[in-house]
Amino acid sequence: MTSSDPRGQIFMNPAAYADQEHWHAVAKDLRDNAPVLKIEEEGYTPFWAVTRYEDVFYVSRNNDKFLNTRNSVLGPDAQFEFLGSIGIEPKTLIHMDGEEHTDHRNLANAWFRPRAVAQRQEAIEQIAVEYVEKFRELGGTCDFAQDIAVPYTLRVIMSIFGVPEEDEPTMLKLTQGMFGAADPEYLGDLSDPITLLTDTIQQFDDYFASLAEDRRSHPTDDLATVIANGQVGGCPMDNHATLWYFTIVATAGHDTTSFALSGGLEALLRRPEQVAALKADPSLINNAVDEMIRWTSPVRHFLRYLTEPATLQGIEIPAGDRILLSYPSANRDERMFDDPMTFDALRPNANRMISFGGGEHFCLGSTFARRELRTILPKLFAAVDTIEIDGQPEWAQANFVGGVKHLPVAATFA
Ligand code: HEM
Repeated sequence: MTSSDPRGQIFMNPAAYADQEHWHAVAKDLRDNAPVLKIEEEGYTPFWAVTRYEDVFYVSRNNDKFLNTRNSVLGPDAQFEFLGSIGIEPKTLIHMDGEEHTDHRNLANAWFRPRAVAQRQEAIEQIAVEYVEKFRELGGTCDFAQDIAVPYTLRVIMSIFGVPEEDEPTMLKLTQGMFGAADPEYLGDLSDPITLLTDTIQQFDDYFASLAEDRRSHPTDDLATVIANGQVGGCPMDNHATLWYFTIVATAGHDTTSFALSGGLEALLRRPEQVAALKADPSLINNAVDEMIRWTSPVRHFLRYLTEPATLQGIEIPAGDRILLSYPSANRDERMFDDPMTFDALRPNANRMISFGGGEHFCLGSTFARRELRTILPKLFAAVDTIEIDGQPEWAQANFVGGVKHLPVAATFA
């Protein structure tokens, strides 16, 4: 099926994601009637939108046939041409394939293995307690997304990364400039998202260049030191790759997780009987966390490029074409999840969610993300008597990483 189909707007238009009901209605229509749909839109290199779980899973796990490379995220061609013209050429794990990818991933891998993450449990708990206390100090009412989820997840990742606490607001601003550039709230006085994006990338570069220099002359036991002094294939990693390595670890690790926490809590609070079940039996938390991550799907897509023709759902896609993997759609595929449009903390197969992707690029930080949510939620539920939504939640306008950016809540503390 080939068309410049208006349904393709749900992948391109950042504002479309802020209307979740409409977004998911269109995605369901695509899964049922056009699960592999070519989108040809003015200003965009055409792409095939893949919306069923089975296909997102298959493409993710066949890394030889479906490559990442440059432009792994959807945006207008003009934006990439402009970035290239001013010398901004992103190169992170996401943009690499094969041996180059494995070599670079191995550099930081040990920090993200389950055992290494488990060793940080005490530190994560301390940060979780600090933020539950902050909620209490705020008098039991807050914007849970901005007051708790964002700073908590930022603090956890920066504590391993090695960025000092006083620089966290800078990291936050930079991440929001990178992922939230299309959201009017983050644009501020700037006239357009591309200006915000380029300003942000330049500021990241400056910040990380001095961080790298510092960790080369004064190595410590943090992840920044490992990256700054990293060897790939027996040679020191070049400056360009080092700066982008810093950038991906600093950005991929907190907005994603904070959106899973804020949006997941919103969904959970709409089912008070499930909150009660979790309060009564904290062993249910792990499953609830997977359901929160399924439900929120904070990463909305990645692109893959075909090295050879492939057939998906009977549709032949030529070599060289690109595929958009829609994680939020795959996570609501009724062929995989019963009653997928209902949030169910007790869902038996919640752990089959595909929010972390799959194959060789499977999210490096998934263990961290899960642990962060698994740590703060029981502490929150143990601290409060009651907790409920206290206003209208607001969604970010973003077509790459997004979710609930404002979540007013009210709680009474035990
Ligand atoms: C709920 C939170 C998170 C979600 C939904 C998420 C989602 C994803 C997805 C979909 C991918 C690409 C997978 C693929 O292409 O198959 C990815 C990759 C990645 N994530 Fe996460 N992520 C989360 C948290 C984190 C955290 C806490 C970190 C820690 C720094 C992190 C670091 C990374 C890195 C470095 C990659 C690139 C891996 C590679 O290409 O080899 N993520 N993540």
